[in-house]
Amino acid sequence: MTRGIALVTGAGRGVGRATAERLARGGYVVVAGVRDVARAHDEYGEAPGVHLVRLDVTCPDDVVSAVGVATDLAGGAAIDVLVNNAGFAMMGAQENGDLQVAREMFETNVWGAAAMVQAVAPGMREARRGTIVAVSSIGARLSNPLVGFYHASKYALSAMSEALSVEMGPFGVRVVMIEPGMIDTDFPRATRLTGNVTDPGSPYAPLFADLRAGFAAWRESPDGSTAESCAEAIWDAIHADSPPIRLVVGNDAAVLHAALRESADDADFQRRQQSFLGLHWAPAPPAARD
Ligand SMILES: NC(=O)c1ccc[n+]([C@@H]2O[C@H](COP(=O)([O-])OP(=O)(O)OC[C@H]3O[C@@H](n4cnc5c(N)ncnc54)[C@H](OP(=O)(O)O)[C@@H]3O)[C@@H](O)[C@H]2O)c1
Repeated sequence: MTRGIALVTGAGRGVGRATAERLARGGYVVVAGVRDVARAHDEYGEAPGVHLVRLDVTCPDDVVSAVGVATDLAGGAAIDVLVNNAGFAMMGAQENGDLQVAREMFETNVWGAAAMVQAVAPGMREARRGTIVAVSSIGARLSNPLVGFYHASKYALSAMSEALSVEMGPFGVRVVMIEPGMIDTDFPRATRLTGNVTDPGSPYAPLFADLRAGFAAWRESPDGSTAESCAEAIWDAIHADSPPIRLVVGNDAAVLHAALRESADDADFQRRQQSFLGLHWAPAPPAARD
């Protein structure tokens, strides 16, 4: 007797893999979407209940075939859980960050997630049940410098998920956004550095150095999350009687979220956020005009 069929995107490593394994341990039959099936076979080893399928969420054929595998495992019925987790980040000053990379990032983080929803939503709506989890970020509520394009993709995912929860709620389909702070995964290594941020002569070099140090210190603090703790939060959200639409995950995210609520105004919040990250990046005085 299984709990149902779950489909997880970006399950090759990090949060996606931990979630696939957690759901399988909890009794789901899990379709784990990965981009490199051979590598995933090696890394997962014996993983009862996990079916590895090739799934690049930007590839429409992969989306159709992964959902097809999940639907077959459900005996032709609707799947029970979609975890839209696949994603990556880029860094770059908006002045010259690579817009082509930003478009590719949106293809994965936003349009890939939307394609997955479109592939499973009709079945869930007709079955009048199902849960769609969007792995968003506390960065869908605040925006750090040099990472604005990434935050924009998470804000977009949240906007879509919030609307989706209203569209599909009356059909018994639940939508939950998971909003972690820092998670100790390979995410930084996969982050694409664009524009001139790594150039020591860049006007943004001091900001980049501060930001990297701030992120590194944040990653080492015990307040962040692990892939496993995120997977546990996802499990809890799927099984809660009435989960919140947006679930802040991790002490760090809770601190930032509380600061957001307490802030009297946006400028005050920006000051708190810069101090959280240890940034020393003050606005220059206005240039004199003739
Ligand atoms: N780490 C953090 O601090 C943090 C914080 C908040 C939110 N998040 C979010 O959490 C999610 C998981 O990130 P993570 O921390 O686990 O990072 P990660 O270890 O880098 O894992 C990201 C996964 O996404 C997959 N992926 C990337 N592009 C894809 C595409 N086009 N199609 C399918 N899969 C794709 C990667 O596949 P490959 O293995 O093939 O490269 C990888 O398995 C992301 O959505 C991220 O934005 C992360």
